[in-house]
Amino acid sequence: MKSARIIALVAGFGFLFLALAVQGIFPYMMKGAGPKAVTRTVRTDLGELTEFRSVARPYTTLEAQGRAIYIREGCWYCHSMYLRPVAGEDRRWGPVAEFGEYAYDLPHLFGTRRIGPDLTRVGGKYGDDWHAAHYFDPRTVVPDSVMPRLTWLFTKDAASGKQVLNAEGKALVAFIQNMGMSRGKWRDSFPYQILTAGASSIQTTETLAHGKAVYLRRCVGCHGDKGDGKGSASSLVLFGVAQPRDFTSGVFKFRTTPSGSVPLDSDLFRTISIGIRGSAMPPWFNLPEEDRRDVVQYIKTFSRDFEEFPPGPQIEIPRPPKPTPDLISRGRKVFEEMQCKECHGAEGKGDGPSSNTLKDDFGNRIPPANFTTGVFKSGPRPEDVFRTFMTGLNGTPMPSFKDAFTSPDDGWAITFYVLSLSADRSK
Ligand code: HEC
Ligand code: HEC
Ligand code: HEC
Repeated sequence: MKSARIIALVAGFGFLFLALAVQGIFPYMMKGAGPKAVTRTVRTDLGELTEFRSVARPYTTLEAQGRAIYIREGCWYCHSMYLRPVAGEDRRWGPVAEFGEYAYDLPHLFGTRRIGPDLTRVGGKYGDDWHAAHYFDPRTVVPDSVMPRLTWLFTKDAASGKQVLNAEGKALVAFIQNMGMSRGKWRDSFPYQILTAGASSIQTTETLAHGKAVYLRRCVGCHGDKGDGKGSASSLVLFGVAQPRDFTSGVFKFRTTPSGSVPLDSDLFRTISIGIRGSAMPPWFNLPEEDRRDVVQYIKTFSRDFEEFPPGPQIEIPRPPKPTPDLISRGRKVFEEMQCKECHGAEGKGDGPSSNTLKDDFGNRIPPANFTTGVFKSGPRPEDVFRTFMTGLNGTPMPSFKDAFTSPDDGWAITFYVLSLSADRSK
């Protein structure tokens, strides 16, 4: 009887210690010893996307600081950080999680509850401006959100009187924007997030009423109830990249129609679906297609231009060829001949001689795109870049070069040259 008690006691402590060792002590001692391999999508020197196996990189000091704030604020209590291989999960958020992505996460923050969406792939989904608006007051951009306000991550900007992220806020955003980044440019080749069907609604009382309801729920926080771009989010928080568009101006950047023309419904549908990367304008690919189609009709009611000046003829975008080193060097030559470097700089870094003086039609400073970042407002596909310099971006100094090209081949040469500037060379 006595020996049985001793056995039970020893076994009890033994198993307790074993559990502690296996789940706590050993993993701690093996810190960093797990596999670091991840599948990364990269852009090649020819401007194409390809996948290869690479290794995850450790957090920068700023990101690590942001991670500590993420833990301190209890974000993990509502957000998981793990995408499972079950139906629909990848469609909603992105590729399923891989082991190596957690190589530098100690403790890991998988989380078990999803009061908010999973955050494994949130890096690059929204621009920093969107995150700022969302942290200052989530309800301005997502009306029914239960996420808490994080006002202590902000200070008041003296010049504008609006809120800007403080040092802690910036660190948190840096951490969030890095999520999923060890997988590289996966978003640029992820069909759900870049491809859109061009279906459109016709304006009827029903589609307009439905479009208005969608607008008042999703868009009003930035674009305002009058469509003038003066929503509560952009009035409270200082947007650094671009102001929400004033729809009453009838000026739209991303079109397949000629310079100066209003866009087609399919153009608006595409922009709304994929969002405007790097700016506060989020992607809406998760909204039902009907919502997106009808909100297009509603937006058009803010400006009379759509009725008075019907859109010009759609430019044709041929199928892109397979890029070759010859095509890229020809692209470089055309880029120089066409004076793109005046604004975009000789290396495409957005630092050309006139880059500091440019303003848009609304009087705001507008830097020329820095192609080396790999973040394209117009979209990441060769067709998107081609379209952009063929049509120009209305309301900005970016002109249309449609009449400057004698052959579409030169167009493709410049397209792939521009894309090749964001090649992931060092990795
Ligand atoms: C009380 C639960 C809760 C907490 C705590 C919380 N969130 Fe959220 N979060 C949500 C909900 C619900 C949503 C979805 C609605 C929305 O977008 O606001 C969300 C959305 C988000 C999104 C957008 C995700 C997407 O793909 O649209 C981000 C980014 C985010 N939260 C970051 C954070 C960070 C960072 C913290 C900690 C500082 C945090 N959240 C704390 C509930 C929470
Ligand atoms: C968090 C702020 C925010 C929200 C919410 C938002 N937008 Fe935007 N939107 C912007 C900003 C900022 C721009 C300007 C970006 C630029 O010009 O670089 C913009 C631009 C646009 C454009 C102009 C595209 C072009 O071709 O020039 C359209 C159309 C648009 N938004 C539609 C919508 C719709 C529809 C919704 C709701 C479903 C919405 N936006 C919600 C911030 C927002
Ligand atoms: C007068 C100055 C100017 C010249 C010349 C110019 N651009 Fe631009 N370009 C801009 C500005 C400004 C923007 C940014 C617009 C914005 O952010 O809304 C831009 C944006 C772009 C974009 C969109 C990038 C994105 O984010 O999607 C492409 C592509 C582009 N330019 C290509 C070219 C090419 C190719 C040439 C030469 C054939 C050229 N540009 C010449 C000013 C210029």
